[in-house]
Amino acid sequence: MRTPIIAGNWKMNKNPKETAEFVAGIKGKLPETTKVEAVIGAPAVDLQTLLDAAKGTNLHIASENNYFEDNGAFTGETSPKVLAEMGVNYGIIGHSERRGYFHETDEDINKKAHALFDNGLTPIICCGETLETRKAGKVNEWVSGQVTAALKGLSAKQVASLVIAYEPIWAIGTGETASPAQAQEVCHLIRETVAKLYDQTTAENVRIQYGGSMKPANVKELMSQPDIDGGLVGGASLQPDSFLELVHYQD
Ligand code: G3P
Repeated sequence: MRTPIIAGNWKMNKNPKETAEFVAGIKGKLPETTKVEAVIGAPAVDLQTLLDAAKGTNLHIASENNYFEDNGAFTGETSPKVLAEMGVNYGIIGHSERRGYFHETDEDINKKAHALFDNGLTPIICCGETLETRKAGKVNEWVSGQVTAALKGLSAKQVASLVIAYEPIWAIGTGETASPAQAQEVCHLIRETVAKLYDQTTAENVRIQYGGSMKPANVKELMSQPDIDGGLVGGASLQPDSFLELVHYQD
């Protein structure tokens, strides 16, 4: 049985004061982690505030990106080693905004996944197609190619523990959510890709999120799909009330 995981991706939003206010708004109101795992991914400038404010809660913390070296002359990057020392739990990598705006390659993302595991952090690996790729009928080869490249060299045990987030680019920030059937189809493809690369047990253990305009109004139907184990949520994760509605989708 895969524990559902609802993760917020704040992207480049909130300052430390707003971060502390957000946590104050959810403190004592999260579901048991065994029922739904609640995660917030925040900008590096907010992580220490988030970690401090979340102390004593069952909120898990994600960085939004990390470099693939532990330290050194990499101006502007964030060390996975330091993230682990701070107490961060997850690292969101491969987001389409990183791939698009900052030209990160499949190889970069695979290196980041290894670096996260090497430092005891768990990757949330993003994948997803453009509208053009979907219209060209090439979703399966595109997404399975991204997943295959991202997982290169990882062990079955590592893959069973990580999270893959399917985020159709045309649904991110647009308010145009993939239909539950569309989301299920690609999440099932991702699980089948893992089964082919590793084995059925690994495929059944890996958790697969949907991301792309997930919100309180559609979370229940999306989460009712057999291969959707969670959500990676941007806009609807920025306010305490909507984040709480998302993590309490079963209620
Ligand atoms: O990583 C999650 C994000 O890309 C989805 O954003 O605003 O469509 O929920 P949003």
